[in-house]
Amino acid sequence: MTASKKILLLPGDGIGPEVTEVARKIMAWFNSTGRTNFEIGEDLIGGISYDTNGTPLTPATLQRCKEADAVLLASVGGPKWDNLPFADRPERGLLGIRKGMGVFANLRPALVFDVLANASTLKPEVVKDLDIMIVRELLGGVYFGEPRGIETLPNGERRGVNTQVYTTSEIQRVARVAFELARKRRNKVCSVEKANVMESGVLWREEVTKLQASDYKDVELTHMYADNCAMQLVRNPKQFDVIVSDNLFGDLLSDLASMLPGSLGMLPSASLGAKEASGRQAALYEPIHGSAPDIAGKGIANPLAMILSYGMMLRYSFSMADNADLIDKAVQNVLRAGIRTADIVEKGQTPVSTTVMGDAVVKELAGLAG
Ligand code: IPM
Ligand code: MG
Repeated sequence: MTASKKILLLPGDGIGPEVTEVARKIMAWFNSTGRTNFEIGEDLIGGISYDTNGTPLTPATLQRCKEADAVLLASVGGPKWDNLPFADRPERGLLGIRKGMGVFANLRPALVFDVLANASTLKPEVVKDLDIMIVRELLGGVYFGEPRGIETLPNGERRGVNTQVYTTSEIQRVARVAFELARKRRNKVCSVEKANVMESGVLWREEVTKLQASDYKDVELTHMYADNCAMQLVRNPKQFDVIVSDNLFGDLLSDLASMLPGSLGMLPSASLGAKEASGRQAALYEPIHGSAPDIAGKGIANPLAMILSYGMMLRYSFSMADNADLIDKAVQNVLRAGIRTADIVEKGQTPVSTTVMGDAVVKELAGLAG
């Protein structure tokens, strides 16, 4: 049987390989039951790629990413590589793959599973049933803006420069993704910038407003300054449906939002490119937790964000809502049964290992599928 879709796995560094091991099992289960027919390849990224190939992302790996129907990346980075020059650091591999694949819209859901409402550091009633989606612009702004660098001035002082820059089309394409998502949810978009101090923020607000007026009148649009949004996210997160913001504010706000559910170990993400005429769309899926060097190699990392990232792949890249729902349900049931890794364990429960958690989800999938 020829494989219908090509998936590329990038385990990366730290806990990456451990949670990828679990993802492999989940993917194997879907293949073995005939629910999917995926060819699964694997490659290096980040520190491991630097150690092996002398660069965090080789052109050959990037090429494989572009040819794949979807990429599932675990995590990159670690203290071992922290003192390398900027260009060699694992994070450059991540930025390189985003840029190279053209994935400009980063979808970061913050969803509170009802059984985990107590895991949050906020009061359960503040986060119970929370379901928000942060859409972060991923290829522009201060992350990539020129000029950038560190220079030495004639008087011997040093000066560091980065540039926050956005164009009309960059703003509109990511805002469009946010409006489209909102239509399938609660129909609300909150656009976030700092138009009170930044021209790029003024432009952002104007372009999002124009797009809503021309194409998305049916979607409710509000605007918020980024600092206020950070405050509102902990004060009353349920006021939001979809939040759209630039690369840097989106980075900060999504980390903040990721703590509402209580553990980073639960949250997946998707980064999507433009839909081509053929229907093809570049797509990169990642758990939002980092490489967690402090627990790497101990076998205790929570693999659920990685599993849920695979679920997002099934939903967004392959329109397999049934299979994606099956994953969400299996994860919920496992949590309900009190099977917890250390990061989400509650009083009276004994934490399980990464492998035990993964196997529990596979078993639950099999049970649900009948
Ligand atoms: C993220 C991370 C990355 C970013 C780092 C690792 C470069 O924080 O995916 O949010 O800043 O984009
Ligand atoms: Mg971040």
